[in-house]
Amino acid sequence: MTRVENAAGPQVKRLSDYAPPIFLIDTVALDFDLRDGETKVSSTLVGRRNPASKDPSDVLELDGQELRVLSIVLNGDVVSEADYRIDGDKLYLSGVPDSFSLEITTAIEPEKNTALEGLYMSEGMYCTQCEAEGFRRITYFPDRPDVMAVYTTRLEADAARFPVLLSNGNLVEAGSLDGGRHFAVWNDPFPKPSYLFAAVAGDLACVSDSFRTMSGRDVELRIYVEHGNERLTGHTMDSLKRSMKWDEERFGLEYDLDLFMIVAVSHFNMGAMENKGLNIFNSKFVLADPETATDADYERLEGIVAHEYFHNWTGNRVTCRDWFQLSLKEGLTVFRDQEFTSDTHSRGVKRVADARLLRTVQFPEDAGPTAHPVRPESYLEINNFYTVTIYEKGAEVIRMIHELLGSDAFRKGMDLYFERHDGEAVRCEDFVAAMEDASGVDLGQFRLWYSQSGTPELEVDLEHDVATRTARLKVRQILPPTPGQPNKKPMLIPLSMALLGGDGRALPLELRGDNSAAAPAARVLSVSAEEQEFVFENVAERSVPSLLRGFSAPVRLRTSRNAAEDCFLFRHDDDPFARWDAGQSYLTRAIIAAAQSGGGGEAVLDDDFLDAVGEILNDPAIEPAFAAELLTLPGETVLADAMLPADPDAIHAARDAARREIGLRHTALFRTIYDRLSGAYAPDDMSTEAMGRRALKAVALGYLVASGESAARTLAAEQAAGATTMTESMAALQALNNVECPEREAAMAAFHDRWTGTPLVLDKWFTLSATSALPGTLEIVKELLEHPKFDLGTPNRVRAVIGAFATGNPVHFHAADGSGYSFLADQIVRLDALNPQIAARLVAPLTRWKRYDEARQRMMRECLARIRRHPGLSPDVTELVAKGLGEEG
Ligand code: TRP
Ligand code: ZN
Repeated sequence: MTRVENAAGPQVKRLSDYAPPIFLIDTVALDFDLRDGETKVSSTLVGRRNPASKDPSDVLELDGQELRVLSIVLNGDVVSEADYRIDGDKLYLSGVPDSFSLEITTAIEPEKNTALEGLYMSEGMYCTQCEAEGFRRITYFPDRPDVMAVYTTRLEADAARFPVLLSNGNLVEAGSLDGGRHFAVWNDPFPKPSYLFAAVAGDLACVSDSFRTMSGRDVELRIYVEHGNERLTGHTMDSLKRSMKWDEERFGLEYDLDLFMIVAVSHFNMGAMENKGLNIFNSKFVLADPETATDADYERLEGIVAHEYFHNWTGNRVTCRDWFQLSLKEGLTVFRDQEFTSDTHSRGVKRVADARLLRTVQFPEDAGPTAHPVRPESYLEINNFYTVTIYEKGAEVIRMIHELLGSDAFRKGMDLYFERHDGEAVRCEDFVAAMEDASGVDLGQFRLWYSQSGTPELEVDLEHDVATRTARLKVRQILPPTPGQPNKKPMLIPLSMALLGGDGRALPLELRGDNSAAAPAARVLSVSAEEQEFVFENVAERSVPSLLRGFSAPVRLRTSRNAAEDCFLFRHDDDPFARWDAGQSYLTRAIIAAAQSGGGGEAVLDDDFLDAVGEILNDPAIEPAFAAELLTLPGETVLADAMLPADPDAIHAARDAARREIGLRHTALFRTIYDRLSGAYAPDDMSTEAMGRRALKAVALGYLVASGESAARTLAAEQAAGATTMTESMAALQALNNVECPEREAAMAAFHDRWTGTPLVLDKWFTLSATSALPGTLEIVKELLEHPKFDLGTPNRVRAVIGAFATGNPVHFHAADGSGYSFLADQIVRLDALNPQIAARLVAPLTRWKRYDEARQRMMRECLARIRRHPGLSPDVTELVAKGLGEEG
């Protein structure tokens, strides 16, 4: 079907234009007649005038997209075509009385739905995705989250092909019908916005279990998967039960229905979706066993199961008033899933992983033309706002509130938030107000974190005066301009710090002006002015400042620390984040210096640092998972963020040189560790400890191979050939992936042949192939698009090849001849015709042109302009390309 737009084209939506709905809908009765070719959807809405609306209009405004109207009946009377108006994606019905019943029947074509929004088909099953605005592709409805209704859903389909019929809530009726058909009726007693609606019809296997809640109710848990995949659901079920328990213990939140279902689907635009009582998941985040999923896959799966489950309270019971408030549910729910992971595994390791994600993806977003506040003020296409800023920076904002209030007051704030707003659609402001009221802490200035975009920079300088025994910490905050926000107000930035003395131990901090007698070893300073000075008294010795401990705020830190001081902290800091960060800071400085000097054969790393690496490897007190983090070099994307203009080839070469130096210096030690860890756990032991050991073993193998010795390549080849788990297999392939050698060729070919029939594993082969730095990779990527298993209609595969190339292969994506850019532009245009949401997600790398040299800038902009000229472009891609060219904001 062709895309119909309003005459004026896609409209910008503004937060300031918000008006409450004129009519509310109390109940929805949906009836799906699922048939090949065309599905009929009948919807009966019982509604009434909204007492909270001042607008006297009698026009009911409904959203609908790609729908064919069959009939409309208002309070029993057929509405003729003259009595309603369809304009683009809106249907206007006038003369609507103060209370009404409206029956609308429409026809849709799920088989032709390649956008994967609304009702669509995946591997022969029907499924839905309604967030954010997919429900309007199912039926005409006020498709906005502040319209909350009780849904009853009847599904009717062929009984043999679709034996399983599911929707939200509880099953109330089911039975067979003539002609081999059957039906099921579901009712969800909790009023919900349309974006949380879901329905599934298919031939699926079911794995079930149960959970007894803290008040003693038994909840049935079901996971639906394709037949044959039942045995791959163990970790999902276990993660679900642990999430349910954790939410009771940590937040006192209990599940509210008698049934909780998860359905795995192969074609899915994102990770998973929290539909009430019927979560729908990308199968990638449901199916796992040690043979096919890596430890990292296990951890992500667990985090996503927890995230979607936690949405039941933060998102579903209390939802968003409008999509500008998206971070209300997403930032808060990410914070909750981060806490779950921290409580379950290692808090320090999790903090490092989250900080790395922010630096790799969110800081660049915040520094580019698509930067937006955690609570945006306008958008063209809401799908484009499911960003790392809304999710991850949003979670950091919640975390800062948590740190400012302390966990007891934060918990009181959560309780008050639910007490006030259960069953409502609210704003980020309502959350902040609950926190403020419960704690008595003034969050006035803090609110700027919601409205100001861009990453604050903190310049911190320590001056030590031996004569007066004082140390002055001078702090300056710089708030770089972002689109639409040239000038900014100083923000409230919690800066956690300590001063480490010569033996590496923290000195007592006597802060001038603090009247309490306390002299703690670490403090959280409230930075609130543009420039501020904190004076510490009775400082016995010269010290090194440990800063932004625990990554206390999502800011860029600029310190006057030198390489030796970074090394000192890398050895001694007792805060895991600060210790890791000192290492990253040392490495970034060294690698960028080497990249800038053109790689004239000089050593990249000094002995001080290389010795520290040896000490870490020999220190039994450091947990292996954390040692693995400490020894992982900053990625090329993070390094590019520290060099202007960024030179991707020089960065890659310098980073490689650093890896080789570490590998050569510690070859024997890495080999010892590798051998020791090889026998230290059962391959299918999925405990935190075993995963950590495997992570460190993978790091050791990586450095051994990086040293360039052929024995190491043999070792990797043997590990690849003999691996009984995906973690071992991937560690070996990753170690070999940038080395031109027969071992790599053989291992990759064997992996491909072994896994061609297993899509989720084959995706890993596609990604390895697309992210290799070896010469000729772009040609190989083009061949991958012709691979019999490549399919532009499967988002996982598109991400595994095109997405991986654009974000995980800086050397080839930024090839000096522009070939990487124009390849991506071609694919975006091709994909946009099928799935605009996925096409739009690929645009970001082209919008980062400001960071590169003039020739690359010109080529990247040309590609954006070429995409923009393409006729019939979706609003999704249009918005990002326009922003990328600097035409908006
Ligand atoms: N609410 C989902 C989550 O964070 C995100 C999501 C899933 C989504 N599918 C989507 C957002 C499709 C937009 C479109 O858990
Ligand atoms: Zn979410």
